[in-house]
Amino acid sequence: MGHRILLLGATGTIGRATARALVARGHEVVCFLRPQADTAAAARLLPGATLRLGDVTSAGSLARDAFRGERFDVLVSCLASRTGAPRDAWAIDHDAHVLALDAARTSGVTHVVLLSAICVQKPLLAFQHAKLAFERKLMESGLTWSIVRPTAFFKSLSGQIERVRKGKPFLVFGDGTLTACKPVSDDDLAAYIAGCIDDPDRHNRILPIGGPGPAITPREQGEHLFRLLEKPAKFKQVPVGLLDAVIAVLSALGRVIPSLAAKAELARIGRYYATESMLVLDPATGRYDADATPSTGRDTLFDFYERVVQQGQRAPERGDHAVF
Ligand SMILES: NC(=O)c1ccc[n+]([C@@H]2O[C@H](COP(=O)([O-])OP(=O)(O)OC[C@H]3O[C@@H](n4cnc5c(N)ncnc54)[C@H](OP(=O)(O)O)[C@@H]3O)[C@@H](O)[C@H]2O)c1
Repeated sequence: MGHRILLLGATGTIGRATARALVARGHEVVCFLRPQADTAAAARLLPGATLRLGDVTSAGSLARDAFRGERFDVLVSCLASRTGAPRDAWAIDHDAHVLALDAARTSGVTHVVLLSAICVQKPLLAFQHAKLAFERKLMESGLTWSIVRPTAFFKSLSGQIERVRKGKPFLVFGDGTLTACKPVSDDDLAAYIAGCIDDPDRHNRILPIGGPGPAITPREQGEHLFRLLEKPAKFKQVPVGLLDAVIAVLSALGRVIPSLAAKAELARIGRYYATESMLVLDPATGRYDADATPSTGRDTLFDFYERVVQQGQRAPERGDHAVF
């Protein structure tokens, strides 16, 4: 039997894939989009789902425009700040979710599936603190919850395909082996998120999740791209200290020019991903552990690179978090 689901963040990378996965499983999916959303474009992106427009940061709009006094079974959220800048992160990753949780409860929702991020296990950035604060509220809500903390998405690891194709070197921080991750495809992650609804093993659990295959470093990503493009491997090593210098300058200037403070936070986000692996962190050793990071799905990052390089599949838009 399908459930009645309210989906937040349905126009995002994982939200779109999740809407498809939920509809394919026979659920009735209602997507709540921004008031100014292009509904014709959204209808093409989200076939089989019902679209409603309103303001996710307003309790009144959530009640009136999203839930409309109707009964829903599950709230699924792929909603996230597009910039990760502190103010937006708290407004979206925390405050909007608190409002949506309240509205959901009033509409009879008994289960909330939240897309979070594996990096919140070592929170150093504003958006990570905002996500963690809501995770805690959700766990204390009394509703059934599933908190999905994925590793890296393909879009975040695809930014250099074009520069390598043009004969430029692949940029890495340090020697390119400072970090590793188990990339997960949009559709594999969406299937995992949708599967949370009917799998009791994913209820009331924090669920770190990566894609198939071994963990890979940025250097291995570059080497694979050069092989696919039949070019000799060429790397340019960027010292992490350069990012530290950028952060120091932007933070200092940001005290007088607020727009530079936001840029400093983006640089801090870049530094985090340059130095922290997207794998389960062992609290006892303080080390990232690829073997302890569960996998789902079948699609690998290297399969995806092959589709982009050899079959002309379009490389995804990377959004505001992109570093290279
Ligand atoms: N990138 C990675 O490698 C990675 C890895 C692990 C976890 N994650 C986490 O995964 C989550 C989702 O990522 P994603 O790439 O799918 O996100 P995304 O593509 O940036 O999509 C964000 C969604 O939230 C909506 N949204 C943002 N601000 C809004 C606002 N003010 N009002 C209404 N809607 C708003 C967007 O709507 P619009 O389309 O209207 O803007 C969009 O539907 C994030 O929490 C991220 O931290 C990312």
